[in-house]
Amino acid sequence: MFTSIQNFIGATEELFALFNEEEEQLVEIAQIASDQELHGQITFKDLSFAYPMRSHELVLRNINIEISSNQLIALVGSSGAGKSTIASLLLSLHLPTKGSICFDDRDSSEFSISAIRHQIALVPQDIFLFGGSIRENIAYGKIDATDEEINDAALKANAMEFIERFPERFETIVGERGTQLSGGQRQRIAIARAVLKNPKILILDEATSSLDSESERLVQDALEKLMTGRTSIVIAHRLSTIRNADQILVMDKGQIAEKGTHKTLMKKTDGIYKNLSELQYNG
Ligand SMILES: Nc1ncnc2c1ncn2[C@@H]1O[C@H](COP(=O)(O)OP(=O)(O)OP(=O)(O)O)[C@@H](O)[C@H]1O
Ligand SMILES: [Mg+2]
Repeated sequence: MFTSIQNFIGATEELFALFNEEEEQLVEIAQIASDQELHGQITFKDLSFAYPMRSHELVLRNINIEISSNQLIALVGSSGAGKSTIASLLLSLHLPTKGSICFDDRDSSEFSISAIRHQIALVPQDIFLFGGSIRENIAYGKIDATDEEINDAALKANAMEFIERFPERFETIVGERGTQLSGGQRQRIAIARAVLKNPKILILDEATSSLDSESERLVQDALEKLMTGRTSIVIAHRLSTIRNADQILVMDKGQIAEKGTHKTLMKKTDGIYKNLSELQYNG
């Protein structure tokens, strides 16, 4: 009983903390105003960042990145280097501590949070499916989507193959109280969400856990289709997936240590990327 009470008190405290959070100004947008449209160009200007709860520790230091519209950018580097943090800053989940992020040469503060989140899709490292149907979980990318749009998104995400094997198809309940989906299946639901959203900027935070080679192939194939025609930022753990990137940014302890294409980075003697690459192919 004592542990239950302790858990209860802990949960209540968290709940009150949540109630006290300042509300973000999010509004449903039917149509993005033309001055709020993103065209896919991104600049990080001398950006440094510390998480508010650990304000003394800079997680990102003096980051400068220039991304042109429709480029494919890869972010690589060891665990804890700050890759996912870059993704959350792009989505305005946090504000830079120093420096700035610009979209199409305009400071990100000139865009509403809603406009930013409507036009940037993130396929996260840990995919969260809420208790509900597969349909609802896909439609999360666009609440008013039609059945046809959802079907189309599932097809493009290579998710139809397993959805059709469930007797209830799109109405199958997933999550804690429903059918458990495998890692690869969850990833394809998340990709379907992003397809439906049709974002100008796509961020893929690749899962660290490896998939079996068949689902890996299905996920990779769906991602490649999704990346065309928009700015894509791929946080990659398997370097084989990013060989064709326009720019590879190698992060190390919150800084960008190396920048270039696969070809130029492989020519660097004792380069971090070169070493990682050799380890992965020969290991
Ligand atoms: N919400 C948070 N609050 C405080 N510190 C955090 C938070 N999220 C991440 N960090 C810290 O920020 C640093 C960078 O974390 P981040 O998640 O960006 O790393 P990563 O490069 O994505 O690593 P991985 O490859 O393991 O996913 C780490 O030291 C981590 O402990
Ligand atoms: Mg991460």
